[in-house]
Amino acid sequence: MSDTAPLKTPCDFHQHLAELDKAGLLVRVDRPINKDTELQPLVRWQFVGGVPEDQRRAFLFTNVIDGKGRRYDMPVAIGVFASSPQIYARGMGQKVEDIGAAWVNAIKNPIAPIVVEKPACQEVVITGDDLRKPGGGLAALPVPVSTPGFDSAPYLTATLCVTRDPESGIQNMGTYRAALKATDRLVVRMVARVGGAGGWVHWLKYRERKQLMPISIVLGASPVVFFTGPQKLPVDMDEMAVAGGLGGEAIRMTKCVTNDLNVPADAEIVVEGFIDPSTLEPEAPFGESNGYVALEAYNMPMQVTAITHRKYAVFSAIISQVTPSESSVVKKVAYEPMFLNHLQSTLGIKGVKRVVMHEPLSNLRPVIFVQFARDTVRTEVWRAMQGAATLRADCGKIVIAVSEDIDPESTDAVFWSMAYRSTPSEDVQIINYRRGVQGSQYGPKTAESTLLIDATQKYPMAPLALPGKAYMEHARSLWEELKLPALSPKGPWHGYTLGDWTETWERFAKRTIVGEWEANGLETIKRRREDLNPETPTAKHEKL
Ligand SMILES: Cc1cc2nc3c(=O)[nH]c(=O)nc-3n(C[C@H](O)[C@H](O)[C@H](O)COP(=O)(O)O)c2cc1C
Repeated sequence: MSDTAPLKTPCDFHQHLAELDKAGLLVRVDRPINKDTELQPLVRWQFVGGVPEDQRRAFLFTNVIDGKGRRYDMPVAIGVFASSPQIYARGMGQKVEDIGAAWVNAIKNPIAPIVVEKPACQEVVITGDDLRKPGGGLAALPVPVSTPGFDSAPYLTATLCVTRDPESGIQNMGTYRAALKATDRLVVRMVARVGGAGGWVHWLKYRERKQLMPISIVLGASPVVFFTGPQKLPVDMDEMAVAGGLGGEAIRMTKCVTNDLNVPADAEIVVEGFIDPSTLEPEAPFGESNGYVALEAYNMPMQVTAITHRKYAVFSAIISQVTPSESSVVKKVAYEPMFLNHLQSTLGIKGVKRVVMHEPLSNLRPVIFVQFARDTVRTEVWRAMQGAATLRADCGKIVIAVSEDIDPESTDAVFWSMAYRSTPSEDVQIINYRRGVQGSQYGPKTAESTLLIDATQKYPMAPLALPGKAYMEHARSLWEELKLPALSPKGPWHGYTLGDWTETWERFAKRTIVGEWEANGLETIKRRREDLNPETPTAKHEKL
């Protein structure tokens, strides 16, 4: 399939893999690969090996073995949801540039799910002793080790953990990591603090009621369903209805076999069970999405009561840890439009053009760049920076405002803007009291502050000293004609005006490119002065 082929939203995980394959975005690996030591490190190279983002691929491993030499029939898919924005967009059936609008539209126009019988996800049902026999239950799934050398267990990573509010009856779904502990036991980690996991909010209620909390972990669903897991939606919003809105049709749901939760009927695998909220069990170390190893902490043990799956199920995992990673791409494409929508629509700040969350190494949340139209008034720039710093407790520790000619995806350009367009004593504010960024929660310091930097252009500046766009474009075709080394231009690659430029200088420049520079000399000789010091700007004394 070419990139111009019509896009459609895959209705299930298998169809998504087939679409990726047709688009040349899926690498199939048929040689034996050890899931405990080789699988994640191999895919990691595409994030740390200098591979351009648009050349990252999804991977399907069809011949998976483990550290004991055991062979698994079930293939492992990894990087299939969001190795790159292009792969994410395929999963949504959208163009990359339309991802943000698709989210906003789905939240405004959800489509309620429907319930179906005889679901594909229950073609095989494993319960009772079969869950406990050696090599059975969870041990029969080819669960990769994410960070060999540091992780304490294989982890379920591409999860959709479904729980239900015991008061409202509304289900929530979140992507939470889950450590394998026994063939029928996991420990699930849900962020347990203000603004934390929806599942944790439910857990608090079950603990209060002294009741077991039903939980089902979905592995491998249509991408629109998967994408709603890591998206931060209000806790009482039905994520399946938003997923329906994303895909344009109702998600087919079904009742679990051993608890009363509803899960996507077309899922690949579902792990059903209960969490006993009266007890906690040590979990981790595990390499986390913030780029550090999460150290051991007490988290929620889940007793598995059933594993159901399709007859030919594919196990899916996500590659996370140090950014960029699949986990940061999945958040970046979803969070940035949310921030933009908040600043433009909720706060009504019209001058905001883009919001970019810094991805390499820093993991999106701490550093946010906000780009503004050139004439945005200063007070609105500050209101937007405050909005970006406060929308979420864990995002926006450092917010930097730039003007529209600065590419916020380029840290070089942002530093350039800070160097020439901000005066630290006027354009920097430090605001006390904010929560520590994720990754520092195990360190001694948990509270932090916010740094806001207005690096926008505040007054007219002289043009950027590169040849004008037309000359650079023409020169590029000459460059290519001469078969010189391939170019991959990084902005800025041509000069442009920044407000401090006059008709006189424009006339001089125009004459100069047609060899008429002597005419400029005839003009300037008439403007000679005897009363001034060298380097006095002419614009101070003449109307140009
Ligand atoms: C790959 C990946 C792993 C994640 N792991 C966890 C986790 O272990 N625990 C957690 O609470 N949130 C985790 N998150 C973040 C949540 O999925 C995210 O905050 C989501 O919005 C939670 O949904 P909820 O608000 O419905 O709980 C992870 C996200 C991704 C993309």
